[in-house]
Amino acid sequence: MIFGIGTDICDVRRIAASLERRGDRFAEKVLAPGELATFHARRASHPERGIRFLATRFSAKEAFSKAIGMGMRMPMTWRGCEVVKLPSGKPAIRLHGELAAWFDARGLVAHVSVTDETDYAASFVVVEQREPAR
Ligand SMILES: CC(C)(COP(=O)(O)OP(=O)(O)OC[C@H]1O[C@@H](n2cnc3c(N)ncnc32)[C@H](O)[C@@H]1OP(=O)(O)O)[C@@H](O)C(=O)NCCC(=O)NCCS
Repeated sequence: MIFGIGTDICDVRRIAASLERRGDRFAEKVLAPGELATFHARRASHPERGIRFLATRFSAKEAFSKAIGMGMRMPMTWRGCEVVKLPSGKPAIRLHGELAAWFDARGLVAHVSVTDETDYAASFVVVEQREPAR
């Protein structure tokens, strides 16, 4: 059954301004280590693509935090929720630490979709709860 849904829209210009103001500390706060490596690689080749990558991840994490009904408070953390890419190109959520334990204990599964266009990035997350085995 559906446990929760969450959506978020993020202004890419706001993310660019935060990066400008706070430097890499902003990206380091929001991104898990694997995401941070992708961010640095994308930014090195195309600065714009780096910012858009960070914006889509920012929106996916906020959407996930809403889908679990928690918002950005413990055990939900920015870096505990990683958006990974499957070989097909489809994004997926991989959780870490206390958040992973909280999520698994409830038998939850997440689905995520992200998009971006010019000034905005948006995400949608559905969290399912597995039926207990009979
Ligand atoms: C949920 C949260 C991530 C949204 O942040 P945001 O980017 O500033 O705001 P958005 O416009 O994207 O989303 C706001 C909507 O999220 C929804 N929302 C708020 N808390 C939520 C929760 N715990 N679970 C799911 N959705 C939630 C509401 O519908 C809200 O819209 P509304 O204010 O019109 O009712 C953020 O509010 C949060 O982390 N909340 C939890 C911590 C908290 O409550 N802090 C305040 C303590 S006083």
